[in-house]
This record gives sequence, structure tokens and C-alpha cells, in this order.
Amino acid sequence: MSNKLDTSPYKGVRDFYPEDMWLEKYMFETMRKAVESYGYVEYTASILEPAELYKAKSGQEIVNEQTYTFTDRGNREVTLRPEMTPTVARMVAGRRRDLGFPLRWYSIPNLFRYENPQRGRLREHYQLNVDVFGITGLSAEVEIISVANAIMQGFGAHDADYSILINSRKLLKELFELFNISEEKSYTLSKLIDKKEKVSAEDFLSGVEELIGDNAKELVALLSSNQKLLERIGEDHETVKTILSVITSLDQLGIKNVIFTPTLMRGFDYYTDIVFEVFDTHPENNRSLFGGGRYDNLLELFGNDSVPAVGFGMGDVTLADFLRTHNLLPAYRSEVGAVLATIGAVDENEVAILAQSFRSKGLNVAVTIGAKKPADVIKNTLKQGVKYIIFVGEDELSKKVYTFKDLTTEETSSLSFDDIVRSIQS
Ligand code: HAM
Repeated sequence: MSNKLDTSPYKGVRDFYPEDMWLEKYMFETMRKAVESYGYVEYTASILEPAELYKAKSGQEIVNEQTYTFTDRGNREVTLRPEMTPTVARMVAGRRRDLGFPLRWYSIPNLFRYENPQRGRLREHYQLNVDVFGITGLSAEVEIISVANAIMQGFGAHDADYSILINSRKLLKELFELFNISEEKSYTLSKLIDKKEKVSAEDFLSGVEELIGDNAKELVALLSSNQKLLERIGEDHETVKTILSVITSLDQLGIKNVIFTPTLMRGFDYYTDIVFEVFDTHPENNRSLFGGGRYDNLLELFGNDSVPAVGFGMGDVTLADFLRTHNLLPAYRSEVGAVLATIGAVDENEVAILAQSFRSKGLNVAVTIGAKKPADVIKNTLKQGVKYIIFVGEDELSKKVYTFKDLTTEETSSLSFDDIVRSIQS
């Protein structure tokens, strides 16, 4: 028959088979451990949001080209959330009078963007979001970047494996003002700078020339020399002091791989000052793992109060690529401790009771009744990635000594209940 359904998932999204899910769980647990050690608590929300939530501040590209938006049966425009920041801003604004600030919140939502699927970019991903609300001082930036660093260390990464790129939008705004660039052109220029790494140096320069004319060469030169740029803005300027202070504080915390990168803009319109990204330094996987920054005005969308906020998002797709590239992926091991398989005719109730006794010792045990041959049990248990099999027949049940097989060493032994528990737990 030709009209059978396809088994592949929808374009750009993933199925998580148990081994993939195991890796997801490992990544999420490692993230949770690091962020919770800094006092962050978990929240979540629905995937569905009113489309208007993204129109004000997320940025043209994401709203016009990347959202999954549809009209529901009640004629409402609904979007599958492409990012979590507008949602968390909505939630904090909704309860701002009852919440005890500063808030330290995290979440691991599934997000949807209509992208051209490629390595590191899918139409669906999970993204750890870590945000602190209610701190105006730079201690918020320092803390948030330290959390990002702690996550990387939690995965066993070394300093040389990644760089933390940091910039200040206010500093660039100051630079644009020194060049008398209008606000409208500054916006277009920021978008151009954001895409700088994706085009050739000539194309970048001619794009800037088109926008600002003869000054383009000087501006582009300043963007590629941190020292000259800082001198031009002036050592005593607030924006220069801010960025240097964040870098120094991080250095004092032992975080040395921070690089001031004036061309780092970040796509979203809501960032107000410091922005940062964590970049994989490996030449084969040179991409961003985290992105974030300060967004002090986003909550004003929901009322008069502004609440200062700093945070970042870290995706699971890029993280898995990073771990694979740097040989940091742990080997898969099934969470099932053993398969308990019957041989020949047995009293199934007695087998069930035996399985319960193993579970009461904290072991995860799956029961297979009535397998035709031990070889079949072995073949399927190997496919499931389970390490041990406990074979049970009438004889074993009466003697309380069981045939225990370790599939990695292929050794078989006759063991008592307690010895089996000890072997699996060791
Ligand atoms: P973002 O830079 O769009 O920021 O995403 C953050 C991270 O999510 C990226 O560095 C990447 O690891 C991952 N990511 C983004 N899009 C995709 C995709 N299509 N496929 C796979 N991974 C992806 C934000 O979303 C901000 N809302 C983060 C934030 C939180 N800022 C403040 N708080």
C-alpha cells in the first residue's frame, strides 16, 4: 500500500527515544544543580501565548519570520512561544506586588521558531532560562554570568573550551552619538553589526557606508580595536566603567575567559545595556551556546512600573553539540537496573513478589514472563541497554538462588537475593 504514514517527525523537530531522553535528563539535571546552587527557583507556563506579546519588543525578524502563529476557534491570534522572556516578564508583572524581590527564577521551556533547520538550529528546542529581577546594580550581571560559567563547569568544560563574549549596547549607542548617527539609522546599523560575522569584511564596510557615508571606515576600525574604541568613548565614561567593572569582577571570581566584543549586539530589541553570549571555541562548532543581557524596560509593557532584569537562555541542541565536540558526553546507561526473566513454567505471583523485593531495595526491575529462549531475552536486553539479567525458574524460586548474568562481561553466576542486590548497586 502506498498511502502509509511517514514515521519521521515534522520538519525541524525531534523525537526523543529513551537514549535521547536520557541525555536530555542528564543535561537538565546538571543545569538545575548549578542554577539552584545560586538560589534560583523553577517556574513554567503554557506553550501558547497571545501573539501580541511578541509584537512590541522581541524584534521584527522573530515576529515576522520565525513565529508559529495561528488563529484559534475564538478568533484569537495565538503563538507557540519562540522564547521565554516575554512570558516571564508577563508573569512577574502580573504579581509584582506580591512577589519578594530580588526574584531568582529559572525554567526549561520548549520553544518554537520557524527557522531553516541546520546544525545547531531547529524549529523546536528546549532552552534553560535564568533571570534575576529587581537588581539595578552590576552584581546582577556578574551573578548571571557566573551562573552561566558554573553550568559550563558542571558539564566538565574547561575554560579554553568556551569564551564569554560581552558588550554594552549603551556604549555602542554612545559611539553612534559621537558619529551623529540618527536613532533610526542606529537601529539599522545595530542589526548590520549583529550580522557582521556572517558577511565578508568588504560587504560589511559597504553596508555601513551606505548608511552613514564617509565616516564608515573610521567607525568600522573602532569596532575592531577595543583599545581605540574605549579611548574614543573616554575612560571616565559611565558605559566604559560599566563594562570594565563587570569584566574585573568576573576576573576576581576566577572567570578569566571573558572577552569584550563590541560587535556583539544580540537580536532582541528589549536589551538595554550589557549583553553577552557564551561561545564554543572549537573551530568545528563555533557557535553560541547561551545568549542574554539586561532588559530593564520590558516589564513596562504591562504597567507603569519598570523592574530591572538580567538573564540568559541556553539551548539544549547547541549544548549537546558542544558536549559531543569536546568529548564530554557521558556514556548511556539504562536506568533499568535489571531484567528479571522467567525460564519455563513458573508461578507468576511468586515472580511478582520477588520483583517487588528487589524494588523495595531501591532497584529498578523490569519483569519478562514466558520468554521462549534465554538467548532472546539476552538479545532484547542488550538492545535496551540494560546491564543485568536475573533468570528465574521453579528451581531458582525454591532454592532462592538465581542465575545472574552480567551482559558487559558475559559472566553468569548463581547468586542469592542479597548478593544480586549488592552486585547491581556496586
Ligand atoms: P537567543 O539568543 O535567541 O536568546 O537564544 C538563546 C540560546 O538558545 C541560543 O544561544 C541557542 O543556544 C538556543 N537557540 C535559540 N534558537 C534556537 C534554535 N532555533 N534551535 C536551537 N537552539 C536555539 C533568547 O531566546 C533570549 N530570550 C534569552 C534571554 C533570557 N535573555 C534574557 N533572558
